[in-house]
Amino acid sequence: MKHILVTGGLGYIGSHTVVELITNGYQPVIIDNLSNTNRDVLERIEKISGRKTPFYEADVRNQDVLNQIINEYPVDGIIHFAAYKAVGESVQEPLKYYQNNIGGLMSLIDVMKDNGIKNIVFSSSCTVYGEPDISPVNETSPVKKANSPYGNTKQVGEEILSDCQFLNTVALRYFNPIGAHPTALIGELPLGVPNNLVPFITQTAIGLRQELTVFGSDYNTKDGTCVRDYIHVVDLAKAHVKALDYIDNHPDNKFEVFNIGTGNGFTVLEIIKAFEDVNHVTLNYSIGNRRAGDVEKVWANTDKAKNILGWEAELTLEDMVKTSWNWQKSLAITS
Ligand code: UD1
Repeated sequence: MKHILVTGGLGYIGSHTVVELITNGYQPVIIDNLSNTNRDVLERIEKISGRKTPFYEADVRNQDVLNQIINEYPVDGIIHFAAYKAVGESVQEPLKYYQNNIGGLMSLIDVMKDNGIKNIVFSSSCTVYGEPDISPVNETSPVKKANSPYGNTKQVGEEILSDCQFLNTVALRYFNPIGAHPTALIGELPLGVPNNLVPFITQTAIGLRQELTVFGSDYNTKDGTCVRDYIHVVDLAKAHVKALDYIDNHPDNKFEVFNIGTGNGFTVLEIIKAFEDVNHVTLNYSIGNRRAGDVEKVWANTDKAKNILGWEAELTLEDMVKTSWNWQKSLAITS
């Protein structure tokens, strides 16, 4: 059984990926500093998968712990999720983002090099395309200057990995992950006021927030609100398993990048409507000003992932908004 070290494995995307790894015969080992999640997620992963998963509570910048894990388990590859991801906060506290996102990556690569570990899957983002001239974007579309330190950590992260030719890297450029596990045992757990659309929708629907503000209705899109490519987190998690397969079958690969989206763009108002229709709830929302730094529209061309990884999204927008709501409701019951 191959051992995969999953950094940030108790986070939103990490936890769903750990479940998929187990389902596909891998042995994940988790390192997470619990900065944006809690230990309870480990038990929930175990409940879904029926298996114990080794867990280390530590920061990826702690090389002693990384070395300890590698001494304890024959780590074949690493999936690196551990990073901060709030765009607005990164503008306020750029150093925090560079120290954690870039410092964490450098620490990891250093330890990989020392221990002869080559294989790594990196969490990148569609943010590297900035405001694209045309959508869908494919992997050769220009990488535009990042409009936030967060976005820059993803661009620089890709560059560092591609410069490290001793590695076999697959960088996955995620579009907008939403949804939750069908068991409603794991999902997104934003601390404080959510920045992202769907957690804000579900928290408003359940009464934790008074009203959702739609950020701008004067964009050049079909209803004036921004367009994104929303992808179910379970589909996204499965893409990581395909990325490991790809690395395994291409041992001489140095650096490869894939878009991970559905290929469909939806406006903010379409997401709200889908949420209301599918879940039979009415959402309290109003139209507000644009949010600084928002991209007008971006969605993915996913041909490369389809043709080379053999991966494509299977779940629908209905699945996404339904599981997001089920997850929010389950939190209300358990908290
Ligand atoms: C951003 C980043 C993405 C990053 C993600 C993680 C960019 C271009 N994208 O995604 O790389 O991985 O954050 O945090 O930097 N919206 C509202 N009201 C709200 C919240 C959001 O109308 O209360 C709208 C936004 O204007 C946007 C859409 O919903 O049009 C999605 O926003 P969000 O969920 O925050 O994701 P992105 O900004 O696309």
